[in-house]
Amino acid sequence: MRDDVKRAVEALRRGQLIGLPTETVYGLGADAMNPEAVRRIFAAKGRPESHPLIVHIAGPDELGRFARYVPAAAERLAARFWPGPLTLILTRRSGVPNEVTGGLETVGLRVPDHPLALAVLRAFGGGVAAPSANRFGRISPTTAEHVRAELGEKVAVVLDGGPCRVGVESTILALTGPRPLLLRPGAVLPAALAEVLGEEPEAPGQLDVAPRAPGTLASHYAPSTPLELCVEGRLDDRVAELIASGVRAVVLARHERPMRFGDADVPWERAPDEPGAYAHDLYARLRSLDALARDRILVETVPSAPAWSPVADRLRRAENPTLGGAGDDGL
Ligand code: TXA
Ligand code: MG
Repeated sequence: MRDDVKRAVEALRRGQLIGLPTETVYGLGADAMNPEAVRRIFAAKGRPESHPLIVHIAGPDELGRFARYVPAAAERLAARFWPGPLTLILTRRSGVPNEVTGGLETVGLRVPDHPLALAVLRAFGGGVAAPSANRFGRISPTTAEHVRAELGEKVAVVLDGGPCRVGVESTILALTGPRPLLLRPGAVLPAALAEVLGEEPEAPGQLDVAPRAPGTLASHYAPSTPLELCVEGRLDDRVAELIASGVRAVVLARHERPMRFGDADVPWERAPDEPGAYAHDLYARLRSLDALARDRILVETVPSAPAWSPVADRLRRAENPTLGGAGDDGL
């Protein structure tokens, strides 16, 4: 066993926190059955304790240790998408600590698709509760360096699994009601879920459904620089307006910087015009744009096609609620 994996497993057994690479984002992990260890996660993140955590497991066989019963749909989805970026919300077993579920009668479970995460989970032999390894409300980490920079002193071991392959958090699907409910869009898209479920999951107004789910708060994943969304087509004019009013903006767009801005002081970052590649680098980009400490990050909205929904969702939540409003158009 790799030395760092071994150290991570020992840390979990002692009730300490670890930085856990997954294919989506890095997690801040603790032994899911140790309430005291789980409370350390909330303290480190500065996250309200009523917010439930996802339990990471080594494989579908472990579902029964945390879920009271496993619906047939969950088994089929697990067989199709695990390991992978899909979290299933199921009815919890009574032994699962309230600290993990936020006092809910349900529990979120997923098998991450990352060799280091799977090595830790197999060697540990239990569930690892892990939210994204960022401070509450901030941008999720997609490299080990992000975790060290933000939470380094609170974590016993940060496993370095390289940059995350997906780059945004898992799709969350609740299977606890009459119909499957999509609580958070992610790389496993509704159409793919529908192939297994035989129906499209319901995608309700997320604030109504899961007010206690932080990834679904209207403002989340936010840089400290105010972020403004601007609809495609109006972006260049908006940039010109900001220049004219002396707002020092940096732009994130899917097209090149137009000639008309000449040598104006507007740093311009071009993002890929493909949803997977855009998602892969989104959080790292937001971090580096934030580090420029400009007055504003101006971001061009993304297309409304379903494949863009995970990115559109994160951009909308990163937007400063007092700015723009382009995020309200249903993207
Ligand atoms: O990709 C991911 O899911 C990453 C990696 C580390 O696995 N984890 C992640 O965790 O994004 P976190 O805590 O940042 O977001 C988990 C989301 C939260 O919005 C939480 O409220 C929701 O999952 N959640 C967890 N358990 C739930 C439950 N029982 N019912 C409803 N929502 C739940
Ligand atoms: Mg998070």
